[in-house]
Amino acid sequence: MEIFLDSANMSEIGRWLDEGLVDGVTTNPSIMLADGVYDLTLGARQIAKLIHPLPLSVEVTTDDPDEMLRQGRTLAGIAENIVVKIPVIDRSGNPCLRVVRTLETEGIRVNVTACLSFGQAAMAAKVGATYVSLFAGRISDEGHDASAVIRATAEWLAYWGYPSRIIVGSIRQVFDVQAAALARAHVITVPPAFLGKLLDHRYSRDTVRGFLDDGRKALSKMEAAGV
Ligand code: E4P
Repeated sequence: MEIFLDSANMSEIGRWLDEGLVDGVTTNPSIMLADGVYDLTLGARQIAKLIHPLPLSVEVTTDDPDEMLRQGRTLAGIAENIVVKIPVIDRSGNPCLRVVRTLETEGIRVNVTACLSFGQAAMAAKVGATYVSLFAGRISDEGHDASAVIRATAEWLAYWGYPSRIIVGSIRQVFDVQAAALARAHVITVPPAFLGKLLDHRYSRDTVRGFLDDGRKALSKMEAAGV
């Protein structure tokens, strides 16, 4: 299972890269805005360079299919590790699968985003999406069982041999990571704050503190004994 960072924050990405934990990065226009990245092209170029050769997902910012294609090609031209994020439907509910299929046919990897159901993820896989992004938090917002949707999608992909990989996003609490992992997500994209929380534990700190204290005590006993 891979861990992606759901962030456009260069210092957080660098920090978790150094820990060896990051297999890729996902962004969307809201994340870019929140992290102070207003020039999407420049931001994408900088993050892609920082994490190369790991994949960076960058989303188009239009509802028009032809403009999506143009933006997708431009984004993919910024760096070889850029994956283009295309929403599964536009704001009016029109499918964007033609755009996905066209880009994938041209050799551009696509992450079909904003999927909130098994059906959306399955249809995205059918047109050849490299990744399908299931938004766990938003599925739960609607009163549905995100783990059940992730598990059903993972089982269906495996049964029929589709190569698309599920990215579970919209992580809202630390436990969502465990739930997605057990539901067989291929990738979980995690906001940096949750990675810190996943690793930290009060009792681990106490444990380490105790070992350090005893190590120091042993050293002073050895010094007092003139060893
Ligand atoms: C991931 O690819 C999504 O962009 C992101 O996780 C959405 O999260 P949100 O529902 O918290 O906005």
